[in-house]
Amino acid sequence: MILGLETSCDETAAALVTDDGRIVANVVSSQAELHARFGGVVPEIASRHHLENVIPVLRATLEDGGATLDDVDRVAVTRGPGLIGALLVGLSAAKSLAWARGLPLVPVDHLHGHVASLYLEPDPVEPPFVCLLASGGHTMLLDVRERGSFEVLGSTLDDAAGEAFDKGARLLGLGYPGGAAIDRLAREGDPDTHEFPVARVPGLDFSFSGLKTALLYAVRDRGQTLATADLAASYQRAIVRALVGRLREAQERTRLDRIAVVGGVAANSELRAALPDAAFAPLALCTDNAAMIASAARYAVPVPYPDYLGLDAYV
Ligand code: KG4
Ligand code: ZN
Repeated sequence: MILGLETSCDETAAALVTDDGRIVANVVSSQAELHARFGGVVPEIASRHHLENVIPVLRATLEDGGATLDDVDRVAVTRGPGLIGALLVGLSAAKSLAWARGLPLVPVDHLHGHVASLYLEPDPVEPPFVCLLASGGHTMLLDVRERGSFEVLGSTLDDAAGEAFDKGARLLGLGYPGGAAIDRLAREGDPDTHEFPVARVPGLDFSFSGLKTALLYAVRDRGQTLATADLAASYQRAIVRALVGRLREAQERTRLDRIAVVGGVAANSELRAALPDAAFAPLALCTDNAAMIASAARYAVPVPYPDYLGLDAYV
């Protein structure tokens, strides 16, 4: 069994996953409420809470799985990218565990983790496929030919799609994290009330910063007539259009039939409805979790003692 740890942003998470991709336990402790009053993640607060939470989350995971550390064969941990202080808490905890239990350590890239959320039971997705990875920190199109690797076809030139949701929610006074809040409110609004621009950048890249500025002006100039729900619906429509458009272009260019969507924004109901032929990560595995990290560890090389002691995190 693989014990996974994830602390790259504001979720302290641990999971137990078997070698054949079955989730035995998956515990996520979100700090979102703590960061909400600051309108976004405060890195130092995140690090401190990871430090407080990592052992309790680990204990809860073992308890949920009816397991002990004797059942664990290797320890997997997110090494980057993410907030450096937050990553160091998970990495240090994982090194200590591996050392104390005489286990190998598997460092995992967070983005590989998101893709590997597709390889878990009961409905694993088989490569080849084009993958849209859309989260709070990243927006990428990936050409996935085999489990464990991918080629980047395009990425965002400025804000990530999740960041666009979060910044949009802030402008609309909906709080943090904003994606789910916009998703909810947009259902009550009319997406045709306001025309937001879809950025045209070359290749398969994305750009969302202009959209955010357009919302800023729309909010400022809206007067009495434009309801917040209508703005939320129009804004969400523009983000979804940008994502779907580029994903279809990538599909055409790679001539791959299968498409998949992962990351926090994959939880968006309009995006899910707009791509009926796509494989989506299960809702619980879209936002950050450690089951996806343990899953990715199945296709990464374990590092033996004492080599893993020298592993650094990367942002
Ligand atoms: O993958 P994730 O948990 O963290 C990163 O690796 O960044 O993604 C978090 C992002 C946030 O920006 C959040 O607003 C967005 O995912 N998100 C959503 C929804 N649920 C979460 N965006 C749109 N619609 C949702 N339902
Ligand atoms: Zn993530």
